[in-house]
Amino acid sequence: METDVLIVGAGPAGLAAALFLSEYGVENVLLEKYGWLANTPRAHITNQRTMEILRDVGLERDVIEKGVPQELMGDTVFCASLAGEELARLHTWGTHPLRKADYDLASPSRHCDIPQTLMEPILLGGAASRGTKVRFDTEYLSLEQDESGVTATVRDRLDGRTYEIRARYLIGADGGRSKVAADISLPMEGQMGIAGSMNIVVKADLTQYVAHRPSVLYWVLQPGSDIGGIGMGLVRMVRTWDEWLILWGYDINDDPPELDDRQAVEIVHNLIGDDTVPVEVQSFSLWTNNRAYMTRYSEGRVFCMGDACHRHPPSNGLGSNTSIADSHNLAWKLALVLKGKAGPSLLETYDAERAPIGRQIVERANKSIEEFGPIFEALGLLDTTDPDVMLANMEARKENTPEARDQREKLRKAIEGKNYEFNAHGVELGQRYRSSAVVPDGTDEPAFTRDPELYYHPTTWPGARLPHAWVGHEGRKVSTHDLAGKGRFVLFTGIGGEAWREAALETSRRTGVEIACYEIGPGREVLDLYDDWARLSEIEDSGCVLVRPDAHVAWRRRTAAGDCTQELGRAVDGILGLA
Ligand code: FDA
Repeated sequence: METDVLIVGAGPAGLAAALFLSEYGVENVLLEKYGWLANTPRAHITNQRTMEILRDVGLERDVIEKGVPQELMGDTVFCASLAGEELARLHTWGTHPLRKADYDLASPSRHCDIPQTLMEPILLGGAASRGTKVRFDTEYLSLEQDESGVTATVRDRLDGRTYEIRARYLIGADGGRSKVAADISLPMEGQMGIAGSMNIVVKADLTQYVAHRPSVLYWVLQPGSDIGGIGMGLVRMVRTWDEWLILWGYDINDDPPELDDRQAVEIVHNLIGDDTVPVEVQSFSLWTNNRAYMTRYSEGRVFCMGDACHRHPPSNGLGSNTSIADSHNLAWKLALVLKGKAGPSLLETYDAERAPIGRQIVERANKSIEEFGPIFEALGLLDTTDPDVMLANMEARKENTPEARDQREKLRKAIEGKNYEFNAHGVELGQRYRSSAVVPDGTDEPAFTRDPELYYHPTTWPGARLPHAWVGHEGRKVSTHDLAGKGRFVLFTGIGGEAWREAALETSRRTGVEIACYEIGPGREVLDLYDDWARLSEIEDSGCVLVRPDAHVAWRRRTAAGDCTQELGRAVDGILGLA
């Protein structure tokens, strides 16, 4: 069997890679070891960037239909149990009225909460209907690569037959125990298996405890909840409000716990704080927290992505989001190289652009776990293992004393610190690339005026994500992101920038790479409805912003050039590795 791209693993990374490659007209085969997709909920938080990417391929609506909307995601509670005392509450996932404005201004898309069990079939349907050939029950065993391609040996797990698949490129999207990454000896930094966590998926109607404070996360502080795990006990919404994922830690130095249904229900009842609630256990599984990332994502014609490259706890909800963004970054590059429109050096920019992001999110997710520490400390839970003393320490904050006031203040600050996990808008949208697929315009990187992790700073500085602005096009209100994407480059200009259109046409004709051009301004095909583009574009009307197929700025020029065709051509050739 032969194909252009062989993808190993049908998790979010592999499915998204298949989807984007098929969307861009690249032949691909997707292998999955098991007979179907994720069988437990796992990743839920789907951030604005992922929703924008899915919007670009026409699947945003499908995800919104199946997901839980942002307004039901964010009344995040810290409590002694669901039925017990509430210790604190935080607006999360951009739902604080002040933060909501930041999120609304930054993107045409909203956060959404959808379990992997529902997201993956949407990605699969999108990929298969666009041409991906999918082989379930098929396990990748090994690979060999040469100058013109990769030969993978795979096993059909239904009949035991072993056979070869020849591909021009191979993508290893085979998760946190990636065999592909091991086979190409990707260099890893960090540590695997630093804490133990258990997942218990249950059916339990908790409406009475949660519907008045709708959230996807209910954090539970109880004796032992700081051991292992992800920082605290967690009651995690799967479906409103009768299906839940319960997370509880275990000491990784002990033998892995074996729970029967009765013991699992006991843990669940403890966290709910009401043992009269009927609980039906759906599944029980163990996993470990990791703090590890690859410093390189590829070797020759083999590329890895997703958890194969970055292994971290689910804090900040960055796992599947980053996996999908990895595949979005690589797919258009592979498409252009396979179609002979770009040089192979374009593929080297995948490493350069995504490896720093992988490292950043691994560090962020692990730091978010550490940032639970101050909450335990403020409540006086760290100096003792005696549950009665813990309870007394927690009660102490209710006194009318200077010590209690200090304790309350400490708790407030500790909860505020959790914004870095739950409202890290800068981490989610602020990714800026540096590579040869980005052409500097000679300006310095714009300074961050607010905390770069908490706040997204829109800019058209080359390498940054295209800022979102609502504009008018063909009688409708659309986002600049709706004009960009679709597997092609886009050039935005304005009044006085007419020469850029000619430049885009000529460069497209010469390279065979589509560059759509939009003039934004009164009387032009795109109207700057709220003057947002004028505020955000950081160019003059006669300048231009060149945007890559993945909606990152490739290059810009503040004003018109003497020879626009030559300048644009030089930038595009540099990006495509044709210079
Ligand atoms: P993933 O592991 O999902 O998929 C790899 C696939 O490859 C699997 O289907 C596997 O069977 C297959 N495979 C492996 N070896 C193979 C072989 N030899 N041959 C063929 N197939 C093979 N993330 C997020 O963004 N938001 C969130 O809210 C959360 N929450 C969350 C909660 C919990 C409890 C967990 C455990 C994880 C999260 N995550 C998350 C993380 C998220 O689940 C994770 O990052 C993604 O699933 C990673 O996607 P990948 O496609 O890289 O790997």
